[in-house]
Amino acid sequence: MTVSLREVRDGDLEALFELESDVAGSDMIAFLPREPGDRAAFDAHWARIRSDPESLIWIIEDDGRFAGYALSFLMEGERQIGYWIVQQLWGRGIATAAVDRMLELIPERPLWASTVDDNLGSQRVLQKAGFVFQHVERTHAARRGTEVDERVFRLG
Ligand SMILES: CC(C)(COP(=O)(O)OP(=O)(O)OC[C@H]1O[C@@H](n2cnc3c(N)ncnc32)[C@H](O)[C@@H]1OP(=O)(O)O)[C@@H](O)C(=O)NCCC(=O)NCCS
Repeated sequence: MTVSLREVRDGDLEALFELESDVAGSDMIAFLPREPGDRAAFDAHWARIRSDPESLIWIIEDDGRFAGYALSFLMEGERQIGYWIVQQLWGRGIATAAVDRMLELIPERPLWASTVDDNLGSQRVLQKAGFVFQHVERTHAARRGTEVDERVFRLG
């Protein structure tokens, strides 16, 4: 397994749409405001984040094959990171390796990340990368239709 990051190209949008149409992944994230499979919402979101000069987005490749994406964006002045791996490839260390690469490419500290409290895999990825749990926030989760506990992590 060789995990690498590269820039996003227009030709990636079909694979990204398929990835974001995955119900299990969407449910894990919990906070996504778009329905899986809603192409118009997907297109609007990706056009917005790709044109945002503060956003950094990479395609994750595993041995040269599309394996997901990693990104960093500003939220209320704080630099956040996030990631999403193709479900068939979960459990192989790809997110762990991709986050390591991403941290080399983003010099800014601190970095922030947050996950719904039951997304244990994502919390493990963050902890392995050195992120430290800070606190819990009550946040509305669109996929759950209710407020959930969101666990906030910080690096540096
Ligand atoms: C969360 C996600 C990114 C993990 O990707 P991955 O490539 O499978 O992660 P890795 O294989 O690098 O590592 C996962 C770690 O979490 C652990 N893990 C995974 N699921 C777990 C669970 N349900 N409970 C406890 N630990 C879990 C693994 O054992 C591994 O830890 P280890 O190396 O100590 O054994 C992936 O499931 C995903 O893309 N989910 C949908 C999108 C998402 O949730 N993004 C994050 C939003 S905050």
